[in-house]
Amino acid sequence: MNRVSVVTGGTSGIGRGIVEKILANSAEDDRIFVNYASNRERAEEFLHSLSEEDQQKVILVQADMSSYEAMLSFVQEIREKAGHVDWLISNAGISTYAKYEDYTFEEWTKIVNTNLSVPVFLVKELRPMMMEGGKVLFMGSYAGVQAYSSSLVYGVTKAAIHFLTKSLVKEFEPKGITVNAIAPGFIQTPWHESRSQESYDRINKKIALHRFGEIKDVADLAYCILTNGYMNGSVVDIHGGYDYF
Ligand SMILES: NC(=O)c1ccc[n+]([C@@H]2O[C@H](COP(=O)([O-])OP(=O)(O)OC[C@H]3O[C@@H](n4cnc5c(N)ncnc54)[C@H](OP(=O)(O)O)[C@@H]3O)[C@@H](O)[C@H]2O)c1
Repeated sequence: MNRVSVVTGGTSGIGRGIVEKILANSAEDDRIFVNYASNRERAEEFLHSLSEEDQQKVILVQADMSSYEAMLSFVQEIREKAGHVDWLISNAGISTYAKYEDYTFEEWTKIVNTNLSVPVFLVKELRPMMMEGGKVLFMGSYAGVQAYSSSLVYGVTKAAIHFLTKSLVKEFEPKGITVNAIAPGFIQTPWHESRSQESYDRINKKIALHRFGEIKDVADLAYCILTNGYMNGSVVDIHGGYDYF
């Protein structure tokens, strides 16, 4: 087995784009663990969209990454089926549009677990399996750089992911593993499928390029970071010039 990659939330949007980019540049004996939460139909549609050759390289794993126990089972499956990891892309994330005054502790906890706590422990559990020169890449958000009005808890978790990225650099130093993050602005994915035209128009006015980014823009950047030998502890914005004018 050659390069082993792990992508959480890899059956939709940005995660799927990264999986497809890695597959497009993969060798015959590379393997990629693609995780999703619950949308089996979407996961199977993704798998069947791949060539037969690429399907052989994908290990599709349903595991709810808001759950510590489900994460441990996922890690166990990786241990049994691959034994090592080269590239880890922690991408799964969720948000809420609930107002702060309407927050419940349960909702807060689910988002913090999915976006921050479980990723922290996923990385901790996989670290002993990671190879010399490996890569860890987190999906942060520009909402963790600048406080958007829309989701307080989401921004807080993403800001923490950016700080985690920098904090983990020294933990991975002995094996020469790099840790980086991407902080996207607004990217056109199923995440935004219920957004109204009025909302698109309002946001596009604030972006210098006056449009949402494409999945490919982020997937290309992710691949660039994964194959770069010297980037370490970097949080890279990609937002088309959001709030710059
Ligand atoms: N789109 C944007 O504008 C944008 C901007 C900045 C940052 N981001 C970040 O980019 C990442 C991906 O976003 P996206 O727009 O590509 O989202 P998306 O199209 O909604 O896809 C989300 C993916 O994550 C999976 N997922 C959700 N909750 C999960 C859980 N508890 N356990 C395991 N997998 C889970 C989903 O699986 P199911 O299909 O089974 O639910 C799906 O595969 C997120 O971390 C998000 O915060 C997105």
